[in-house]
Amino acid sequence: MAFYINSYEQYTEDYTRALLNPEEFWADIANNFEWSQSWDKVLEYDFSEGRNQWFINAKLNITINCLDRHAAATPDKLAICWEANSPETPNRQYTYKELLDRVCQVANGLKSKGIVKGDRVCIYMPMIPELLISVLACARIGAVHSVVFGGFSPKALAERMQQAEAKMLITSDVAYRGEKVIDILTAARVAYQISPTAKQMLIFDRSGEGKTYPEQSFSDFDSVANAQSTHCPAEIMDAEDMLFILYTSGSTGTPKGIVHTCGGYMVYTGYTFANVFQYKEKDVFFCTADIGWITGHSYMAYGALLNGATQLMYEGVPTYPDASRFWQLIEKHKVTHFYTAPTAIRALMALGDEYVQGWDLSTLKVLGSVGEPINEEAWHWYNEQVGKERCPIVDTWWQTETGGIMISTIAGISQSIPSWAGYPLVGVQMAIMDENGEEIHSNEADGALCLKTPIPSLLRTTYGDHNRCKNTYFSAYPNHYFTGDRAKRDAEGRYRIIGRMDDVLNVSGHRIGTAEVENVLNQHIEIVESAAVGYAHPIKGEAIAAFVIPFAPVEDKNKLFAELQFMISKEIGSFSKIETLVVVTGLPKTRSGKIMRRILKKILANEPDYGDISTLLNPEVVEEIAQQVSSLK
Ligand code: PRX
Repeated sequence: MAFYINSYEQYTEDYTRALLNPEEFWADIANNFEWSQSWDKVLEYDFSEGRNQWFINAKLNITINCLDRHAAATPDKLAICWEANSPETPNRQYTYKELLDRVCQVANGLKSKGIVKGDRVCIYMPMIPELLISVLACARIGAVHSVVFGGFSPKALAERMQQAEAKMLITSDVAYRGEKVIDILTAARVAYQISPTAKQMLIFDRSGEGKTYPEQSFSDFDSVANAQSTHCPAEIMDAEDMLFILYTSGSTGTPKGIVHTCGGYMVYTGYTFANVFQYKEKDVFFCTADIGWITGHSYMAYGALLNGATQLMYEGVPTYPDASRFWQLIEKHKVTHFYTAPTAIRALMALGDEYVQGWDLSTLKVLGSVGEPINEEAWHWYNEQVGKERCPIVDTWWQTETGGIMISTIAGISQSIPSWAGYPLVGVQMAIMDENGEEIHSNEADGALCLKTPIPSLLRTTYGDHNRCKNTYFSAYPNHYFTGDRAKRDAEGRYRIIGRMDDVLNVSGHRIGTAEVENVLNQHIEIVESAAVGYAHPIKGEAIAAFVIPFAPVEDKNKLFAELQFMISKEIGSFSKIETLVVVTGLPKTRSGKIMRRILKKILANEPDYGDISTLLNPEVVEEIAQQVSSLK
C-alpha cells in the first residue's frame, strides 16, 4: 500500500480501506517509519472512558525518524534555514547531519543537568533554532517537553510549569519581535522562582551579550551544549510514553495540559504532512506558526522533519521591517509551501497589494491556512495575490487535541472551495450532531462536530487529571469525541467550520477561554462581575468585548480600560487583550444565575432577535446593554 496519495481515486480507496479496517490501514502506514520493536496490536480504545491507545507495546524514538534516518541517507540536505527578525542578521542553517549533532549535544547537556526520561522540561523561547533543537533534545532522551508560547506572561508560564511539575526551564535572554526587544528572561526568572519543582534553567544568549548569572542553577545554553559529545543514543520509548504536553484553553477552569504520545503522533503527523501538502523531496516548507502552538509542533518540529523536508524558520513578525517580509523570504529561499493563519493574511491584505507585488513568488506550489475559519475575501486575496491563481489552498482544520490535520483538501488532488475546509482525511470519521445529541445522517447537515473513532494522534489524556479529559471531550455525545466546534456539511460531504460552540474565543488564531479573561477582569478592585464575549473583527477574526459591572459608577472609563489591559497582559499575555469595554449595571442571567453570553453575542452582532428573554432573571438589562453597545459604535 502506498504512503502517498497520488490521485482522488486513491484518496477514496484509502478512505474506504481505513474505514473498513483501520488497524490494517494504520499498520501499513506505520511500517513506513523506523521502530525498534513492532506492535502487538494497533488500536485499543474506549471512548466512554476517554481512552485510546495505539501501537501497543511498540518501541521507537521519534528523533531517529526525524533525524538519524535522514542524517544517514542525506546528511548534507538542508533541514532548517533560520531567518532572524532583522534582515541585517545573517541567516543560520543546519543540514540534517548538523541538526542531529546539535540535538545530541543539547540532549547530552540536559542529561548532564540531571534530566532523565519522563522528566518534564518547559521551553519558553522565541522562534530560534534552539527552540526546535531543545524540543528534539527532550524527545531524544525521553524527557517530556512542554513548550509555552513566548507571548505568555510570567504568571501564565508559572502556572503551566507548576501543573507540569517541570524540572527545568529553557529560555533565552531576550526575544526580538519587530521593533521590540522583549526581556523574556525577567519573565522566565519570575516563573522559575515560584515553580517549586524547577531546579535548572538553561538560557540561550540571543542578544550575544555574553551575560553571566549569579544563580548557581542558571547555565548558558551554548556553554552546556558545546561541552558535550555529538553522539547521544536515542532513548527507546514505548509508543504510548508521553512525548509532550501542550497547554491549551478550554471553556472552563485553567488551561488543560494536552498529552500526546510517541508512536501514534509520529505516524499521524508524518502521514498528514506528506499528503495534505503533497510535499516532494526538493520542496521548501515555510510554516509561520510559532512552535509554542500545536501547528509548530506537528508540522515544523515533527511532521516536516519526519519527511526529511527542508524548512524555513522565521523569528519575527510579518510586518517587519515592512509588510513585504514574508514575500521577500519566499523569493529568497525559493519557498514552495507556505502555511499561515487567516489573521496574518487579513492583516497583510489590509496594508495593500503593493507589498506582495514585485516579488518572485513563482516557486510557490501550495498554500495552507490554519487556526480559524478563513473568510472568502481573504481566501481570494491569498489565491490571487500570493498564489497567482495557480497554487491550491489547503484550509486545514484541526486542534491541539487532535495533534494533526483532520479535515482538509489534499493539495492539487481534491478541489478547494473558499471557506470550506473540505473532506475528512483518510482514517478520519466525523459526525455532525443535532440539538438532541443525535447524529445527522443526511449529507447536508449543520451542528456539533464530533469524531466517531480515534485517529493515531488524538489526545491521550489531560495531564494529571484524566476525568477532565473524559468530561470535556467524551461526555457531551456518548462514544464520540466532541471538538467544541460547529460545522456544516454539504451535499458532497465537504465540511465548513463555523466556529466554536463553547466559551472558547479565537483571537488572531489564538485560543483563549472566556473564563480565563473573566477571572482577570474580576480581580480588578472596581469590578463586581464580568462577561467576556467574542465578536467578529476584520483582522483578528474575533475580538474580545468585556462587559463589566462596577461597584460604583465609573468616573474614568479610559483609566479602567488601561488598567484592565495591563492586568490581562500580566496575567495571561498581551495577545488576550480586550478590544471593547462595556460598563453595565447588570448582565442577562437565567433564573439559575447563568450569564446568557448568547444574548451578549447577539447584541454585539447587532442582531436584535434575542429570543424569549421574558424568562430571564433580569430582562430589563438587555435593552440597556444594547443601547450602551450601540452608543460605542
Ligand atoms: O475552532 C477551531 C479553530 O481552532 C480551534 C483549535 O485551536 P488550537 O487547538 O489552538 O489549534 C489551532 C491550530 C490547529 C478549532 O477548534 N480552527 C483551527 N483550524 C481551523 C479552525 N477553524 C476553521 N478553519 C480552520 N482551518
